[in-house]
Amino acid sequence: MSDAGRTPGAREMQVPMLDLQAQYRPIRDAILEAVVRVCDSQRFILGPEVEGLERELAAYLGVEHAVGVSSGTDALLAAMMALGIGPGDEVVTSTYSFFATAGCVSRLGARPVFVDIDPVSCNIDPGAIAAAVTPRTKAIVPVHLYGQSAELDAILAVASRAGVPVIEDAAQAIGATYHGRKVGGFGLAGCFSFFPSKNLGAFGDGGLVATNDEALAASVRRLRMHGADRQYYHEVVGGNFRLDALQAAVLRVKLPHLEAWAGARRRNAARYDALFDEFGLAGRVTPPAVLPGRGHVFNQYVVRVPDRDRVKAHLEERRVGAAVYYPVPFHQLTCFASLGYRAGQFPHAERAARETLALPVYAELTADEQRYVVEVVAEALERAA
Ligand SMILES: Cc1ncc(COP(=O)(O)O)c(C=O)c1O
Repeated sequence: MSDAGRTPGAREMQVPMLDLQAQYRPIRDAILEAVVRVCDSQRFILGPEVEGLERELAAYLGVEHAVGVSSGTDALLAAMMALGIGPGDEVVTSTYSFFATAGCVSRLGARPVFVDIDPVSCNIDPGAIAAAVTPRTKAIVPVHLYGQSAELDAILAVASRAGVPVIEDAAQAIGATYHGRKVGGFGLAGCFSFFPSKNLGAFGDGGLVATNDEALAASVRRLRMHGADRQYYHEVVGGNFRLDALQAAVLRVKLPHLEAWAGARRRNAARYDALFDEFGLAGRVTPPAVLPGRGHVFNQYVVRVPDRDRVKAHLEERRVGAAVYYPVPFHQLTCFASLGYRAGQFPHAERAARETLALPVYAELTADEQRYVVEVVAEALERAA
């Protein structure tokens, strides 16, 4: 590393954005035991591990049905397919999320209708949803961004007035609560991701559709098996959206730790908040706001900073992991140009895309590492001043 970005005498450390090894070490034996159990059974497709995980997750989330699928993306896709969303339909969603939220709508031939975010939480603005609903609207898809629930009461009220279902994109928010209840069970369906960086991460891809609606659960189960309840008797056209038994076995080892890990993430978030105060950065770094009635699980701890790209480059120079979720809102993506949105149309999302910066917040992060991260952020801002 060059000394270019370093304050003379400053200490040196390395803090990754995410350290999956630190999570794996203490549970390694239990994971290997579970993997061996699947190998010895030679049952890799659905079967007892997937069924066991589905039971355990339904209980954890407080929903009637949980259907394991191949990814968070496929959870969204299958839920939308189950609703029969297709050409001529519209789906209202936030312009500020991970690509899959909108990509699934387009893949089905429907039109994603984007709305702006609330500037404080970065979650979809319920008032803007109401204005975007038309007779062609077939679903509303709020995203519980970074691990904090969207404004569900207001969103469900708009949806109920419009007579359309809500599909929660809860990919980043397993365990997050809204007025004491876990997200994913408020809408008709909740879609979760087990991508390795999520709070409950598999050893590869995985996802889940949670629902209290029996017909929707049956439909997603059918869709994940190419649309057949009985092999080779296809009632609808589905896909291969199954969750692997090996992934389910790994997730079953991790699930009992999930609450403790989320608690550690919350503790880390509170530490950052205090450190930004201590370093006198409160006016220049805006820490994430936890809104009333929300149990945030901090899949990401996202601050707002001026001159974000420069701050991020400085963090990288000083070997501190940082990431931008997300640099381009959907309405400004090349692949959605034909939808006819223009720059400036959703100013809150556009500003967030310029200012948001995610800092390491994983459960095993130490207080000293966090202090180092804040020292380096302070150093970057001093340089800019
Ligand atoms: C908000 C959101 N939606 C959907 C997804 C898609 O999940 P996956 O990567 O498991 O397909 C992700 C995660 O990457 C996400 O963060």
